[in-house]
Amino acid sequence: MIDLAIDLSPVRSQFPALQETDEQGHPHIFFDGPGGTQVPQSVIEAMAGYFVKANANKGGYFITSHRNDKVIDDARAAMADFLNAPSPQEIVFGANMTTLTYSLSRSIARRLKPGDEIIVTRLDHDANVSPWLALEEQDITVKMADFDVEDCRLDLSHLASLLTDQTKLVAVGYASNAVGTINPIPRIAAMAHNVGAWLWVDAVHYAPHGPIDVQRLGCDFLVCSAYKFFGPHVGVLWGKFDLLEQLSAYQVRPANPKVPYRFETGTLNQEGLAGVTAAVDYLAGVGRAYGATFDGNSAFDGRRQELKQAMQAIATYERRLFTEMIAGLQSLPGITLYGITDPAEFDERCPTIAFTRDGFTPTQIAAYLGERGIFVWDGNYYAINVTERLGVEASGGMVRVGLAHYNTQEEVDRFLTALKEMT
Ligand SMILES: Cc1ncc(COP(=O)(O)O)c(C=O)c1O
Repeated sequence: MIDLAIDLSPVRSQFPALQETDEQGHPHIFFDGPGGTQVPQSVIEAMAGYFVKANANKGGYFITSHRNDKVIDDARAAMADFLNAPSPQEIVFGANMTTLTYSLSRSIARRLKPGDEIIVTRLDHDANVSPWLALEEQDITVKMADFDVEDCRLDLSHLASLLTDQTKLVAVGYASNAVGTINPIPRIAAMAHNVGAWLWVDAVHYAPHGPIDVQRLGCDFLVCSAYKFFGPHVGVLWGKFDLLEQLSAYQVRPANPKVPYRFETGTLNQEGLAGVTAAVDYLAGVGRAYGATFDGNSAFDGRRQELKQAMQAIATYERRLFTEMIAGLQSLPGITLYGITDPAEFDERCPTIAFTRDGFTPTQIAAYLGERGIFVWDGNYYAINVTERLGVEASGGMVRVGLAHYNTQEEVDRFLTALKEMT
């Protein structure tokens, strides 16, 4: 029996930033998570602890270097659990998702020939578009699948019409960072594989909101960023081992040529990796504390199971909050909401809500809220094709409210009251 009344707000005590107030004494309300989430104390301590105990480069014959090597191995194991990767050796770390995508797109392009095709989508963050568009330089054809402007769902029949025997890769987001749509990845994987193409998934936006299982999804590559799921600024790539082995990397000659090391250019952000493990362990702790009623499993069988149940608990809790927020926004005059608004379809969206309001620009709304300690984003958040397709780019894009599991009903209410009072 799933606990729909689940309350995750006690986790807040673990996040120092959530205790902060502004100079006027307003408690900060962090609805800016899609731009980067706050971190628990354990992540801060792990990163600070790295500098005290393990601050060395890898491969040395002394204690701090041994500890550093363990930090890297532990982070790979943590991310393998987070993504349900068959092996930690399929995890590659980098600066961020954008850098990893540019780097791997170049490696993949080395295998392509003029006339080969790649499909991207109009619903994606530009980090999953521009790196592929750049391959037009070498006469790769890049096509763009559209979305339905009514509810911001990906147009799967348009995507199907673009697939040909020449399609070598489909790049798609797991969830939209602008309007919150969750794409049906297993279905898209089957469509891509049907023509022999690889599926590249940008899970940056989805990662803090639900369980990721690369084996269930059936994708070939998946990228995410730890700063979006309560960790530090580290990019993470998962790829099927045999595919990674087929790709050559841009690396300096003395570097380790094996997978995954060959894709990790230069020295990693090792203090960040200590934080990645701590972020994953934090989430596993959420699973132990709140996830027992999910998956019919209260006797946890290791960190993977804890993570899966944590993310199910988080998705359930967030759903209640975003249902309230959407209903509250719909009751205000002059608001246009973008994306899925029918509660019967809320399984297909995450708690990231975009809207515009008659008489105010998105920047005016974000600044008004910001002055009251309520942090939201405005503009296009690099999902430039989305704002253009929705016809709002020229007028300043949309206001984006991004809920996370550390937000509360009270914060949602304060936000709605502030909007109500805005004149
Ligand atoms: C959906 C999505 N993809 C990719 C990115 C880029 O991630 P990174 O900052 O790790 O390069 C973002 C950042 O906001 C995002 O929201």
